[in-house]
Amino acid sequence: MKRVFIHTFGCQMNVNDTMRMSEALASMQYAPTPAPESADLIILNTCSIREKAEDKMLSALGRYRQVKLQRGALIGVGGCVAQQEKNRILERVPYVDFVFGPDAIQKLPEIIQRVEADRVRVVETAWVDSEDYVFPRADPNTSRGKATEFITVMKGCDNVCAFCVVPHTRGREVSRPFGDILQEAASLTTVGVREVTLVGQNVNSYRGGVSFAQLLLRTAQVPGIERVRFTTSHPHDLSDELIEAFRVEPKIMGHFHLPVQSGSDEVLERMRRDYTVAEYLERLGKLREARPGIAVTTDIIVGFPGETDEDFEKTYQLTEQVRYAGQFSFIYSPRPKTAAAMREGEWGAVPHEVKIARLERLNALQKKLSVEFNAAQVGQTVEVLVEGASRTDPTRRFGRTSHNTTVNFDGDAPIGALARVAIGAASAASLSGRQVGIDSLPAVVIPDVAAAPEVCVA
Ligand code: 5AD
Ligand code: SF4
Repeated sequence: MKRVFIHTFGCQMNVNDTMRMSEALASMQYAPTPAPESADLIILNTCSIREKAEDKMLSALGRYRQVKLQRGALIGVGGCVAQQEKNRILERVPYVDFVFGPDAIQKLPEIIQRVEADRVRVVETAWVDSEDYVFPRADPNTSRGKATEFITVMKGCDNVCAFCVVPHTRGREVSRPFGDILQEAASLTTVGVREVTLVGQNVNSYRGGVSFAQLLLRTAQVPGIERVRFTTSHPHDLSDELIEAFRVEPKIMGHFHLPVQSGSDEVLERMRRDYTVAEYLERLGKLREARPGIAVTTDIIVGFPGETDEDFEKTYQLTEQVRYAGQFSFIYSPRPKTAAAMREGEWGAVPHEVKIARLERLNALQKKLSVEFNAAQVGQTVEVLVEGASRTDPTRRFGRTSHNTTVNFDGDAPIGALARVAIGAASAASLSGRQVGIDSLPAVVIPDVAAAPEVCVA
């Protein structure tokens, strides 16, 4: 058996792609190792959403060069930077053996054979046309030991957000046929999975034979599936039908990640987001009416070209008004080929210190809101899907609430149990409590001793 180490950067799509890479490589007798220094093959599954992500990948590559020198390990670069930079990676980094885009994962065995047999460096970044694209089917064995798993339902993005590199790295939207998704959910239940998160760059524009709302409702009906989640959404696709699904199906969890990006209509227009703040709030109001108490989280970019102090104040006020349960806020980072990068000079770049100051203010506000959101759970008994031992204290258990909030608790519920936990304390990031009962157990016993990690997520 040879050993492969895969370093995963970026989003859940990449984490899923890494699992598919592991499966493709298993057919070549490559077993995963958590230790890069003992690997025969090192793959970096990269992200290019912000410049920082690219910098992280370059510094990781520098570290892995040693393994190449000492063991002759092969080094491959996959993911979004690979798709964007193609053979420029080979030109810049002489010790990289191959480069492959997200559409070439199934070709990995063939690529590696060519590198090994012909001693050539390979670049494989061709798109597969939407009509020809076949989503790789997950092997449920890869998910053994887990109570919750991700299912890819679509890839690519047809939006034209001015800041975003994704349309350039993941191409046009392609939806996976709904029957395949339901089959995958059913196969995951055979290893004990009880919660699935449907993932794609823009899931609610899903068109795989049924609407996205229908897909959620049908997934919730798969025997053995107790919880359904999804990510990530664009506000302009938040349909009444999807909101209605939240009203009628309690297995759809009470969390909605709805990236707003900015609280200023002028900035939203330059971002080409296709909605106004008023429209966003109207959708959110309907959602909250359908599912009272739902946790709403968001993404925000500060320092988008031309963002004034007044624009930023509007973002700050929107955050206060919505009272998000959590948010990911980012400093704007110009990305190659995007409209905003090309027009930054015209719209006006925001100085770095101003961006930092805005980010810090927003983060401080969000921290306060997150604490308040979580503190409201103290004294309540909530349902938690148990995922294993607590990471901070292995004598305690760990899982998530319907709101997707992390809970560490005293108890003995096995992985996959739906436990009732009385919440005693809250912080901005998590809840703490004690088990007061178990509502149900998974159909199969999930061993608590986690297998060797399949992927290394950084
Ligand atoms: N600069 C900063 N943040 C970005 N995002 C996407 N592109 C950029 C960029 N160029 C953020 C958005 C998106 C999240 C995944 O990353 O907020 O929702
Ligand atoms: Fe990063 Fe976007 Fe690619 Fe995910 S799709 S890896 S977030 S660039």
